Amino acid sequence: MIIKTAEFIKSSGRWQDCPEAVMPEYAFIGRSNVGKSSLINAMLNHKDLAKTSQTPGKTQLINHFIINEAWYLTDLPGYGYARVSKSMRKDFEKLINNYILNRKNLVNLFVLVDVRHTPQKIDLEFIEWCGENGVPFSIVFTKVDKLKPNAVLANVEEYKKELLKTWEDLPEIYITSAEKKEGGDAILKFIAETNAF
Ligand code: GTP
Ligand code: MG
Repeated sequence: MIIKTAEFIKSSGRWQDCPEAVMPEYAFIGRSNVGKSSLINAMLNHKDLAKTSQTPGKTQLINHFIINEAWYLTDLPGYGYARVSKSMRKDFEKLINNYILNRKNLVNLFVLVDVRHTPQKIDLEFIEWCGENGVPFSIVFTKVDKLKPNAVLANVEEYKKELLKTWEDLPEIYITSAEKKEGGDAILKFIAETNAF
């Protein structure tokens, strides 16, 4: 897919405040600092569209972008950010969960996981929650430039094994690096294929 236009629309603190659900929507989610905003920028070939930071917890609102005037891309706040209070974490969780469950035009969630880590409980629980609630999702490994190719493969295999303990079929899997601008095209291809724009 060729990106002709990519515009920021708005940030929302409640799912009810999100832009009108008039176009298909794809959302990026994952732990704080996993690289959601960076991958969005790399994929769209925009340096600074989604705000990134070395400090986890940068994205605290639901950010909507409109791409090619045809579909929404959403940058969600990260879950599991340890350095905020418990009640704030609960609020984030509620915001994210309500958004996912109520957003009628949501076609797919891209769940980002850092390829350097072994499967983390918080991600596996989130993936499980998606399954229980019938939320369509794909898994996106991030920051693959930080490991040697063999280590990337080994970690991805380990992740698949973990998923197969609870899932009969594996979801779509993407292997990406925002730094090297890799993997974004495959995600865009999936988006184009799941929608007739
Ligand atoms: P929150 O908004 O806080 O939830 O974080 P986020 O998931 O949006 O992460 P963000 O894109 O802000 O990136 C976090 C940090 O990881 C930044 O310092 C990025 O430069 C770095 N980063 C993101 N993607 C990559 C990547 O593919 N490779 C490398 N080496 N670093 C990356
Ligand atoms: Mg972010």
